[in-house]
Amino acid sequence: MDILVTGGTGYIGSHTCVELLQAGHKVIIVDNLSNSRADVVDKLRTITGLTPVFYKADVENRAALREIFAAHRPEAVIHFAGLKAVGESCRLPLKYYRCNLDATLSLLEVMEEFGCKRLVFSSSATVYGPDNPVPYTESMPARVATNPYGWTKIMIEQILRDHTAADPAFSAVLLRYFNPIGAHTSGLLGDDPNGIPNNLMPYISRVAAGKLPHLTVFGDDYPTPDGTGLRDYLHVVDLAKGHLKALEYAAQHTGAEAFNLGTGRGVSVLELVHTFEKVNGVPVPYVIGPRRDGDLACCWANAEKAARLLGWTAEMTLEDMCRDSWNFVKNA
Ligand code: NAD
Ligand code: WQD
Repeated sequence: MDILVTGGTGYIGSHTCVELLQAGHKVIIVDNLSNSRADVVDKLRTITGLTPVFYKADVENRAALREIFAAHRPEAVIHFAGLKAVGESCRLPLKYYRCNLDATLSLLEVMEEFGCKRLVFSSSATVYGPDNPVPYTESMPARVATNPYGWTKIMIEQILRDHTAADPAFSAVLLRYFNPIGAHTSGLLGDDPNGIPNNLMPYISRVAAGKLPHLTVFGDDYPTPDGTGLRDYLHVVDLAKGHLKALEYAAQHTGAEAFNLGTGRGVSVLELVHTFEKVNGVPVPYVIGPRRDGDLACCWANAEKAARLLGWTAEMTLEDMCRDSWNFVKNA
């Protein structure tokens, strides 16, 4: 199948392109490189022996999208492109609403013009907001976010529900990712944020590499077994494979359907730190600091719906995630 991948040179997009190429799909990437690098395309070729088509373009840009659709007539789209930094979204909300909403609307309009009816969208566990009890199930209300980034995901989910209601031939799979970490086993692809990382695993890796002096654990007084926050970390390669299952589902169903992609297990900050140290034989010095504004104590998935309807279950262990994250940072 010919598949358009927006944001395909980014962290999750690039790992998904590996799986798509290895499964025999033709991959067309559109990315403006605002948070990734063009050499990812060479790395995809090194890993798979296959070459995706690459366009440097904004997904908001309908004229550019039209040319790409006219040249390739993709049968399905996986839509990763967007801005994702929670803190930045609080400082620059208009930038986030403009980018994430405009990109999706332009994409849907051009898909409609070209009769492309299948979309897999990168949603997030953040749509469950602060009020639902863990583990989160897809039937829970997902209508309150704690930051503008999260609101863009809730709004886009609603846009997709409205669009599929109006076009009964359209299929939208909303994948609610939990906390992807890890990297491709080749060490060529991984999460490589600019500047000081916001997320836990890139921070741990940079401390282990001696590039940052220590990790600050944001609070050890949560109502959890060791007092630190619990999250559902999953390997990015498992997550990537979930997109292939979602594409199969989209080919057989219409309407908008949400799926959690997580392991179903909550892991604490300190469990992740100690697993990383043990697996990789490197120290990760840390200090306990205050809670971070907006953090929840616990966030993990009920992963049963994806297992039942997509035939997808996360297979890789926390040890795999820690080993592969370090392997990527060591090689960088
Ligand atoms: P990423 O920043 O690594 O990848 C996003 C890619 O989209 C980047 O390569 C960037 O250059 C590109 N991009 C951004 N805006 C664009 C635009 N307007 N036009 C074209 N390209 C554009 O992020 P990621 O971690 O791979 O996340 C991918 C998607 O998954 C995002 O939508 C994100 O919100 C969502 N998500 C990520 C996480 C996570 O923890 N990483 C969790 C839940 C959901
Ligand atoms: C994980 C745990 C922190 C850094 C974010 C977004 C979410 C989703 C995934 C996109 C928490 C603790 C962290 C540090 C720490 N993204 N921590 N010290 O906040 O669960 O989710 O990324 O949709 O929307 O909010 O991930 O990796 O930032 O934090 O103690 O330096 O690590 O408090 O318990 P989070 P994270």
